[in-house]
Amino acid sequence: MSQRPAPSLLLLFLLMIPGVCSQWSVSYSPSHICALKDSSVIMSCTYTYPTGHQIRKVFWTKTLEKDNGEHPDLSKDPEYSQRFQYLGDKQQNCTIRLSHVTLKDSRMYYFRFITNKPDGNWIGDPGVTLTVTDLQVESPERVTEGDSVRLTCKSSCTLTDRATFIWYRNSQPVTTGIIGNQLILWRVSRKDTGRYSCGVYGHSYRSAAVQLNIRYPPEKPVIYISPSGEIMEGDSVTLICISDSNPPAEISWFKGGMFVGSGRIYRISKISSDDSGEYKCRSINEHGEKYSDTVTLNVMYPPRNVSVLITGSGEIVSGDSVTLICSSDSNPPAEISWFKGGTFVGSGRIYNISKISSDDSGEYKCRSINEHGEKYSDTVTLNVMYPPRSVSVLITGSGEIVSGDSVTLICSSDSNPPALNFSWFKENESSAVGSGQSFSALQSGRFYCQAHNQHGSQRSDAVTVTGEAFINTLLYLHIIHQFGELIMMIFLFQFIMVLV
Ligand SMILES: *[C@@H]1O[C@H](CO)[C@@H](O)[C@H](O)[C@H]1NC(C)=O
Ligand SMILES: *[C@@H]1O[C@H](CO)[C@@H](O)[C@H](O)[C@H]1NC(C)=O
Ligand SMILES: *[C@@H]1O[C@H](CO)[C@@H](O)[C@H](O)[C@H]1NC(C)=O
Ligand SMILES: *[C@@H]1O[C@H](CO)[C@@H](O)[C@H](O)[C@H]1NC(C)=O
Ligand SMILES: *[C@@H]1O[C@H](CO)[C@@H](O)[C@H](O)[C@H]1NC(C)=O
Repeated sequence: MSQRPAPSLLLLFLLMIPGVCSQWSVSYSPSHICALKDSSVIMSCTYTYPTGHQIRKVFWTKTLEKDNGEHPDLSKDPEYSQRFQYLGDKQQNCTIRLSHVTLKDSRMYYFRFITNKPDGNWIGDPGVTLTVTDLQVESPERVTEGDSVRLTCKSSCTLTDRATFIWYRNSQPVTTGIIGNQLILWRVSRKDTGRYSCGVYGHSYRSAAVQLNIRYPPEKPVIYISPSGEIMEGDSVTLICISDSNPPAEISWFKGGMFVGSGRIYRISKISSDDSGEYKCRSINEHGEKYSDTVTLNVMYPPRNVSVLITGSGEIVSGDSVTLICSSDSNPPAEISWFKGGTFVGSGRIYNISKISSDDSGEYKCRSINEHGEKYSDTVTLNVMYPPRSVSVLITGSGEIVSGDSVTLICSSDSNPPALNFSWFKENESSAVGSGQSFSALQSGRFYCQAHNQHGSQRSDAVTVTGEAFINTLLYLHIIHQFGELIMMIFLFQFIMVLV
């Protein structure tokens, strides 16, 4: 079997050799053009006509309809004139260039020529079809970290010129993963989030950017405290939980493990010491959850509830060991000072009196002080009990018994509580001769008293009651000893009277 070219191919071959077959013809190569928006398009075109004709006019038109008897000339069309350039000649080449093509330029275009002879005109119908395309990035709707993602740079037709696609992320070129008109992102992470666009090498046109939204679990949240630094009771305090995630996470707050609130911001408008403690936040979305580190709120406040506690219960008896404890509530811990009747007596939370005496009786209070304020406790009274002491006998009158008369003796003592039980004795006699604070001596002798309270007793020195009518000098000396100057003056006065 011999090979023969198909008749149509043969005809085409003959038509393409000028002069060989002089027929009316226009041919476009290619006859379909797919061009990128904004690019320049060359529409290659050749034409033939019978011999003997001379070309008078060549032009391009975009319509088969005539206007005023002729097809409108594309080079006169205001929408094209600036962008249109005839590259051909007036013999056989009718190539043009159309630059900055727009989507509106998509249509069929025709070459027409007119010769010097009547009816010598021709239009190359069908013409050349121009399709102008833009580029669009196609991306999957939902992408999670770890997925592999395929982005496609789509055009509405297959570009006639061989195209090398370029990709951009946030306007910066992406160099790896480009296969044809696709960008392959292997196992994406949140760092691949961005606005992706594509273009074609050698062309300035770029597609609109498409946001690639990558979903991921929350990052470990961080807590910010406002104001930073020391927190005083009554302050307004704001805790903010910051945790990156996509989609945005739900935030919950915990104090010491107990749920206390939700939302990114946790506000405590008037903080109190009860709000001190450890806080943390939890960030949770459909891809996971994370807890922060705990943060500690330490609310400062001046001393309060200052009070004094006395160890032991009931009565304090001289010689006891007594401990006063100052309790107070404050943050930071307070310094404690002790005052007795307004005078500083010591410091520290515990005030010890190891062997208490009556001198230690009095009103005590403690002062609690820290950098935010001070407060005093109520006063407490220490009333130290002790047995009678400094027991002595006072003699009223001269101390001399005159007939039918008596001498009154009074027992005085110092004790706490005051002694109410007194016993009177005559020296060298074992049984008491009387009771009560005063005693009437009817006979002479040496007498002493004994004073009692619940803590003990003490006896006085003995005093002498005489039966003779002379001044008992010893007795007077004793009284002087007891009553000092006043008695001395009385004595001197009496003495002077005697002398007189
Ligand atoms: C027609 O003219 C253009 C521009 O000068 C040229 O590039 C092209 O090769 C020509 N075509 C033919 C068939 O001569
Ligand atoms: C401490 O003082 C506050 C007010 O200052 C009072 O509300 C609270 O009851 C006191 N607590 C005690 C244990 O006394
Ligand atoms: C106070 O006295 C108590 C009891 O005697 C004793 O245990 C304590 O150590 C003393 N404290 C001080 C600060 O002297
Ligand atoms: C007074 O003291 C004596 C001696 O201790 C005692 O016997 C007597 O009962 C006491 N009297 C009173 C009223 O306490
Ligand atoms: C009492 O007894 C003492 C000795 O026990 C003696 O010295 C003293 O003189 C006596 N007093 C009287 C008043 O008898």
